[in-house]
Amino acid sequence: MKTWLMRKIHVVVVFGFMFGVTRLVAQSAEPPDSSPASLIKILTSRSQITLMVGTDRHLYQLGFGLTNAAVALPKKTPGRDDDFYPSAGDGYVFEPALKVTHADGNTSTDLEFVRSDYSELDSNVSLTRIELRDAYYPFHVFLNFKTYRAEDVIEEWAEYVHEETNALTLERFASAAPEFPTGDYWLTQFHGDWAKEAQMTEEKLTFGIKVLDSKLGVRAQKYRTPVFLLSRNGPAAETTGEIYGGALGWSGSYQFAFEMNPQGRLRTLAGINPFDSAYHLRAGELFSTPKMFWSWSDAGAGQVSRNFHRWARKYILRHPENLRPVLLNNWEATRFDFNETKLLSLFDSAKALGAEVFLLDDGWFGERFPRDNDHAGLGDWQVNPRKLPHGLSYLAKAAAGRGLGFGIWLEPEMVNPESELYQRHPDWVIAQPHRPLDLQRNHLVLDLTRPATREFSWSAIDRTLRSNPGITFMKWDCNRFITQPGSSYLPAGEQSHLWIDYVRALYGNMDRFATNFPDVMGMLCAGGGGRVDFEALRRFDSFWPSDCTDPLDRVFIQWGYSYFYPACAMAAHVTRMGNRPFKFTLDVAMSGALGFDVDWQKLSPQQRTEATAAVAPYKEDLRPIVQQGDLYRLVSPYHGQRSAFDYVSADCHRSVLFVYQIGSGNAESVKLAGLDPQGHYHVSEVNLSPGKNSHLPENGRVLDGAALMRDGLNPDCTRKFDSEVIDLTADH
Ligand code: GLA
Repeated sequence: MKTWLMRKIHVVVVFGFMFGVTRLVAQSAEPPDSSPASLIKILTSRSQITLMVGTDRHLYQLGFGLTNAAVALPKKTPGRDDDFYPSAGDGYVFEPALKVTHADGNTSTDLEFVRSDYSELDSNVSLTRIELRDAYYPFHVFLNFKTYRAEDVIEEWAEYVHEETNALTLERFASAAPEFPTGDYWLTQFHGDWAKEAQMTEEKLTFGIKVLDSKLGVRAQKYRTPVFLLSRNGPAAETTGEIYGGALGWSGSYQFAFEMNPQGRLRTLAGINPFDSAYHLRAGELFSTPKMFWSWSDAGAGQVSRNFHRWARKYILRHPENLRPVLLNNWEATRFDFNETKLLSLFDSAKALGAEVFLLDDGWFGERFPRDNDHAGLGDWQVNPRKLPHGLSYLAKAAAGRGLGFGIWLEPEMVNPESELYQRHPDWVIAQPHRPLDLQRNHLVLDLTRPATREFSWSAIDRTLRSNPGITFMKWDCNRFITQPGSSYLPAGEQSHLWIDYVRALYGNMDRFATNFPDVMGMLCAGGGGRVDFEALRRFDSFWPSDCTDPLDRVFIQWGYSYFYPACAMAAHVTRMGNRPFKFTLDVAMSGALGFDVDWQKLSPQQRTEATAAVAPYKEDLRPIVQQGDLYRLVSPYHGQRSAFDYVSADCHRSVLFVYQIGSGNAESVKLAGLDPQGHYHVSEVNLSPGKNSHLPENGRVLDGAALMRDGLNPDCTRKFDSEVIDLTADH
């Protein structure tokens, strides 16, 4: 009954449809999905993409915005420029979503609507699948829209299949190509570099094409994260205005192209970067593009972020119900310079600190070519017997004996030329013949398109985890990208497949990790935050946002990532990088998935006391709110000397406010958000350094939610590196 009703609501058929009508009236007639004059609505609870099948059987878009808003029909017969998924070569002269060279050499495609199917996958998730077919060639396109109703997220991707006589060539293959309603648009990108990830820059889009892309091959990011915000009719604001959030799930080269045509209409193409990626598709083979994720809100960027966070916590991350453990990692503390005795003493530190998992980083492997620095050993995944004579299981047991989980670092796609692996298989790397090898960090990328190499890469993980069942955590790293895109496995005519087939092979191995080791938690890493995207995150629990752990920089880096990725996934470690005041360092790390990367012995007694005093309340009290609550960004570090945000539990009973002073100034009050206006909140500053009293004027008082949101609190933060963490607990 429900399904039947949903279908009725979903597909509104307009009989006797004629161009020139200015408003559509919803009708509840039978839903003949293949009617050439029907509307197809892709719906979440608050947003909607409205599509229309024209009398010429082409698919057009009428709107992208508020659910059930009236959509105006085009005043004139739509033309090729209005196609929802425009293809090249038959009238469309702007950047196309699709460009195909058919088996007979014809470079044009003319897509006509065939049918639309709607199914409810569960009470919250629906799938609309629209089939288009070339008017002449047996070439089919399926446009898919999975909607997550409560979270207001739309997942969009395309699939192609054909029955032409020979292989055809896909030259452009966008996952999505929507047009945005008339207006002016401001684009926010999240760019950066190594140790400077997710920096925000906003600009107004003007005529022509603005491209944000990556050509790195093995990961999306180094120079920019595969996400963006588009704000309509004004720069993006946190609580007001129409915002479109877009995120691509692809851990390889990608492209976002924002094209404003001469009429001022904005279309966004999002997908795999077509650069050097022509793909030959044989008859009967299915080509599926990556998923593009959209969330729209007319209540500002904050709501878009909360939509993505809730959705990612429920549908993307592994172990969504588990709180992320507090880690002690040894990388910053020891680099490659450790042995069993040193590690055992770090286990004791981890226990004293109250950490829950010890993560052994790079440097534990390599026999003939010991990994004592980054010049050698990568690819030789045997324990270094000199450093760790009793092996990994012994360490895992020793950690367990102290109540700790044990984690391990792997970089399974890479090889140092100084390794047994490279000596045995020099042809397994991605390189160009007749060119000197281009090393990055002294290593090369393994060519995962070659089945034997792919199996080797998988076996590095499988053998390590299977033969050491005490391992509970894995950090999967990737410290370089492709600069010489050549494969000695792929035929000469298919070298351009490398970019795509590599990522697919990578996901295959990541899937094997996630399914074969369901209890082993995973952290994504790529020289910092190079591999953060929603598709890779499906196979992991968390990600390492940046190799920069200076808390002053982390305020910006974590702020940037927070627009899309939830705090529970964002590893935030306390280190001594930047040598900042210890409380500030702790407070910044506590707003994410807290961890440590410090040499306990090198901390002062005061710092050790501060660290242990912070971990216990984080685990018991703050962690569920930070990691599973809703985020409200309150004061942007980009607009002054302060950053502030609060997390609020789903029932609004608990909130934690973080305030960081990144320069001197900004003495004004901080107005909270997301609270229950009627709730009575007990205000209490937490994470005070031992022996210090709170100077928060409202500390210890009970204030109602309305007052906290209207008048705010007055943190005693005015000087650079002042910070406060404030707990708000409502009476039940
Ligand atoms: C990368 C990671 C670091 C660390 C090193 C080890 O740079 O981002 O966290 O694991 O590799 O080589």
